[in-house]
Amino acid sequence: MTAKPSILQELPTDLHRDRLPKHVAVIMDGNGRWAKRQGLPRIMGHRRGVDTLKDLLRCCRDWGVQALTAYAFSTENWGRPLEEVDFLMTLFERVLRQELREMKEENVRIRFVGNLDALPTSLQAEIERSMLETKDNQGITFSVATNYGGRQEIVRACRAIASQVQQGLLHPDNIDESLFERHLHTAGVCDPDLLIRTSGEMRLSNFLLWQAAYAELYVTDTLWPDFDRHEFHQALASYQARERRFGKVGNV
Ligand code: IPE
Ligand code: IPE
Ligand code: MG
Repeated sequence: MTAKPSILQELPTDLHRDRLPKHVAVIMDGNGRWAKRQGLPRIMGHRRGVDTLKDLLRCCRDWGVQALTAYAFSTENWGRPLEEVDFLMTLFERVLRQELREMKEENVRIRFVGNLDALPTSLQAEIERSMLETKDNQGITFSVATNYGGRQEIVRACRAIASQVQQGLLHPDNIDESLFERHLHTAGVCDPDLLIRTSGEMRLSNFLLWQAAYAELYVTDTLWPDFDRHEFHQALASYQARERRFGKVGNV
């Protein structure tokens, strides 16, 4: 992919800037089915899915969303055929290498969340470089969940906290939600306000189990490679039409 000159697109007039979600999370699902429908191998769906993600990132940036988190590879996705897993790892590395310059120019702060140690070492190196070179950027925070599992993340946090208790550095009474959050991969990024899943599946598939406690859910039947600005606009309009009550009494 080559870097296209990016022209800033205005927020659609029916959306309210002050009521935009600060953080949008997306489960990018349906690449395989998209490819199958076109009579193509599954990997072609993943390739097309990259373009969709690039466009969504740009759209979030243009419209003023402060954080985007995309689910790229789950801890369960290792169970897929080896060729597909290998293709994905190579794709992540190649895309990261190709896109880093543009993301730097566009002031994107990129982060990877998940168990990164288990990824191929060459991919780990690209990940580290991209995080380091964009860490001071002040624009959108773009998190890519790679080898990410919500359960594993929670267990890992528990282990780190237990070890502090064992060493006498922390008293159990001082374990609260904010301390716990600081031990998650996502520490420092606010919880998602809006969680979008494509391809019609009504499940979280181990994504942001802690963080999505009060996220507004939006599921569309559209397959990820076909998800576009128009769909995103619809998701935002749906979000803005809702009343978030957080367990309290609403405006009825
Ligand atoms: C999502 O699309 C991408 C990844 C999980 C990496 P899928 O590959 O799950 O596509 P479907 O769900 O099989 O159509
Ligand atoms: C979730 O999609 C993981 C990603 C999008 C990376 P899956 O396709 O793996 O989820 P299931 O198997 O349908 O629950
Ligand atoms: Mg899927």
